Parts: sequence; structure tokens; C-alpha cells
Amino acid sequence: MTRTFETVGVVGLGTMGAGIAEVFARAGLRVIGVEADEAALSRGRGHLEGSTGRAVARGRMTAEEQAALLGRIAFTTSRDDLAGADLVVEAIPEVMEFKRGLFADLDRICKPSAVLATNTSSLSVTAIAATTSRPAQVIGMHFFNPAPVMRLVEVVRTVVTEDGLPDEIAGLARRLGKTPVTVGDRAGFVVNRLLLSYLNHACALLETGLASRDDIDAAMRLGVGLPMGPFTLLDLIGLDTSYEVCEVLFRESRERRHAPAPILRELVTAGLLGRKTGRGFHSHDRDAPETAGEPGGRPEISLVGLVGGGPDAATVLEALEAAGFKAAVAEPGDLTPVAEADVVVALSDTPVVELAVRLPRPERLVGLHLVGERVAEVAATVVTSREAAETVRDLVRMIGRTPVRCGDRAGFVVNALLYPYLNDAVRMLEAGYASAADIDAAMRLGCGYPAGPFEMLDAIGIERVRDGLRALYAEYREPSFAPAPLLDQLVTAGVPGIRAHVG
Ligand SMILES: NC(=O)c1ccc[n+]([C@@H]2O[C@H](COP(=O)([O-])OP(=O)(O)OC[C@H]3O[C@@H](n4cnc5c(N)ncnc54)[C@H](O)[C@@H]3O)[C@@H](O)[C@H]2O)c1
Repeated sequence: MTRTFETVGVVGLGTMGAGIAEVFARAGLRVIGVEADEAALSRGRGHLEGSTGRAVARGRMTAEEQAALLGRIAFTTSRDDLAGADLVVEAIPEVMEFKRGLFADLDRICKPSAVLATNTSSLSVTAIAATTSRPAQVIGMHFFNPAPVMRLVEVVRTVVTEDGLPDEIAGLARRLGKTPVTVGDRAGFVVNRLLLSYLNHACALLETGLASRDDIDAAMRLGVGLPMGPFTLLDLIGLDTSYEVCEVLFRESRERRHAPAPILRELVTAGLLGRKTGRGFHSHDRDAPETAGEPGGRPEISLVGLVGGGPDAATVLEALEAAGFKAAVAEPGDLTPVAEADVVVALSDTPVVELAVRLPRPERLVGLHLVGERVAEVAATVVTSREAAETVRDLVRMIGRTPVRCGDRAGFVVNALLYPYLNDAVRMLEAGYASAADIDAAMRLGCGYPAGPFEMLDAIGIERVRDGLRALYAEYREPSFAPAPLLDQLVTAGVPGIRAHVG
């Protein structure tokens, strides 16, 4: 029997619930919005009026359509009003005891055929389902913030979910104009599991002093093309929420890298929760200053040395010559041609400091890694002089890129953050949790990323990522940085890309 979903209850009209109610009402469904008390109900109604009002102001909806949409939503503080709903979506705070209490009530109030859904980001849907007498009809329906805009819905089935129900909920999500991805009940599902691991890792790198907050944010935003850097995103999500999700991931995986970074705890304890409290990693009281510096003056240098070959070295050489610099090039095997250069830029895979110590003046050597079209990481070793590092940063600005300063560690900033994230996606695929196409769609639509992890893997090249992961593992000895066996095998088998082989 296929269910029809015409009347939908939404419990909790906060950040997510108000958006979810709007999404249902936009699609023509009748909505019963339930809040805890009159004050919260009026705030929830305000969210809905504000959001649809902005749509009218932008010409995306007429005033009549707005009135009709709001007319389809009944606002109440009584859960008993949900008795006739075909589906109830819960969006109350992320506290298991609150959710379990609510679901026990909904089970008692709602008609026997009704489906009960949770919008939880990280809690166990199975544990929530177990509080009801209808666990087969309990499912996760995980929307993304802001719900009216973000196209992804993760549909979370448990081991006891009725056959066919995930497809029906996925069908409903499509009717709402969303793209559903159906997954099992594992902490963080697809998006938060991959995203929070990466964000927590960024905190860990910040704590080691590898690079500054702004440099890491700029590297990921301008270099990789993500909509925002990790610290800006953590502030947007809320540091308390991020902390909780990491905690849940850690409880399931017992992997140290999922344990919330100490800096998260410190900021949360200090009440600096991100955008919602005005301050987190960044201050949100005013616009943050741009990290990209002003173009510097022309450094006093007559010869620039370049170590390395390949397209990056050719790009830099061309840009330097176009800017009027004399340049000498050396391969990592013999550094003689650059021995007398005023500053030496290393663009090879050899650790920067290993090259530095082979020069007569090791303090003149600086590592450089071009990222995308707009960023270059500038890595100073323990012996690099300040002048040399500043000169190279000036050169980077002259060739039209934003310099990101970092220490001489494998992967610098970008690859140290990006490659483990890609590896996590491969491990998720290997575990049979979701398909490559679903994981790609989830990260594109749930996070606004320009490409999913498997698309990124193919664009970068699987061998390059595998080798980069090996170098990261050798440096940090973090077990999760070891290349996933599937990645290793595909490289060994000589396949050109991952998506053609995993479907
Ligand atoms: N904020 C996000 O980015 C995001 C994204 C996806 C999922 N989620 C999940 O959505 C859920 C809600 O998160 P949020 O950010 O909207 O929280 P929120 O604090 O903005 O909203 C929660 C709302 O629930 C109401 N509420 C509390 N107890 C209630 C009760 N017993 N009955 C009815 N209403 C009650 C509160 O008054 C509040 O308006 C959480 O499970 C969260 O993990 C959040």
C-alpha cells in the first residue's frame, strides 16, 4: 500500500522546523506547526512570515501566494492536534531525552498509519524509533540549513524500517523539489560524518600552529573553491552543535581524530558559539578583514631560483619572467643552478627542509604549492629567513594569487585537509554505506561544494591523492590517513579514475 502524505505535522519551529514547514506548505501540503509554548510559537510564525516576506520582496512569490502558503499552516501548542497527520517531522533540540519523550507521545497521539520522522543531525534514529510501538514507521528525514534553499534530504532507514517506506519518503522529498539520498543509521550519516571530520581536523591543524585561522580559511575557500573556510563554517553551524556531533562520531568510531578538538571545548565553555552569539573563531560584530594582502612592492632581487619541474614550475617561471625577473631552474637532484639565487622557491614533492640543507644558504629556500587558480601556499622551514618568506609572498601576490603561509609539513594546509576527507569518502564507499554518486550528490547539495569527493578525486588524479596520503601518514602517523585499500588497489590496477570503476 502506498501512503499519501497530505497533512504533515512539524514539531519545533526553530531554525530548521520553520524552514521545513515552509517547504511542505510551498509544495501544497497542509501543515500543522507545533511549538512548546505561545512565545516560541509566535517566534516560529515570525520566522515563516519573514522568510516568505523576503521571497515576495525578491519577486520569487506574489503576496497572494504568500497568503495561500501561510494559510496552509495551522499554528498550535498542542501535540494532540497531530492526531490526523499522515507524517510528523520532529525538529526540536538535539537532545536524546527530549526526542525520546516526544516520540513516545507522538506514538500515542498519531493515527496508526502515520509515519514519524526525525530531523536529527547525529542521534541514533534506531534509538528514537525504539521508544515507539511502531519502530518500522520511524525514519530520519534530515534537511539542511536553510531548508527552503538546500536541495539535499538524507533519508535515514534503520534495520527495522518497513520495506518500501524509504522509497515513499524519498518520493515525498522529490515532490518537495529536493534530492533525496537514502542511507543507513550511522552517526553523522553521509554529510556530517565527512564534514565534521574535516572541520575537526582543521581545528587540530590550527592548534599545532601549522597556519593561522585566516590562512586556513583562505586556502580552502580560494584554493579549493569551497563556499567558505572551515572556521567560518564552524561559526555558522555553531560550535556547540559541532562539538556535539564530533562527540557522537567519536562515541561510535572511537577514533581520536573524531574527538572534539580541545579548542572547540574551550570556545564553547567560554560561550563563544559562533555566529549566534556574535563570536566564535571569528568575531561577527563587524565584517572580517580580507585575508588577501595588498600587492607588495617589487622585492630587491636579481635572480629567483626554482626547484622542480612539471606544470606548476612552468606556470611560476612564466609568470616571473613576464614580471621581469631573471630565473634559474634546477631539478631536485642537482641544486647547483640555483645555489647563488637571492631566493629559491621549491615546487617539488621533496620535503622543503631536505632541499634547504643542500644549499649554501638554506635560509633562502621557501616551499611553494599552487592551489587552484587563486592561491599559493608558502611554506617556511625552521631555517627559512623572514625576508625570504616575505619576498616569496610578495612574488605570489605579483603573480595574482593570495599567499597562504604555513609550516613545512606534508600536505601543507590544503592537501592535509582535503586528502583525508577524500580518503574518508572512499572508506565510506568501501564500507558499503552509500554509493559514490550518492556521496557526491550529498556533499554538493548538502554543503554547497563545487564537486563531490569522488569528482574531486578524479579531477586531482587518484595516484596523486594516494601518494599524498602516504606522505601524510608517514608524517603524522594517523591511521586514518593511510590510503583506503580500494584507492591503493585502483592505482595499482592502473585505472584512470575512480568513478568509472565504482559506479
Ligand atoms: N541548525 C542546523 O543547521 C541543523 C541542520 C540539520 C538538522 N538540524 C537538527 O534539527 C533539529 C532542530 O535544530 P534547530 O537548529 O532548528 O534548533 P532550534 O533551537 O533553532 O529550534 C528548536 C525548536 O524546538 C522548539 N521546541 C523545544 N522543545 C519542544 C517541544 N517539546 N515541542 C515543540 N517544540 C519544541 C524550540 O522552542 C525551538 O523553537 C536538531 O535535531 C538539529 O540537530 C539542525
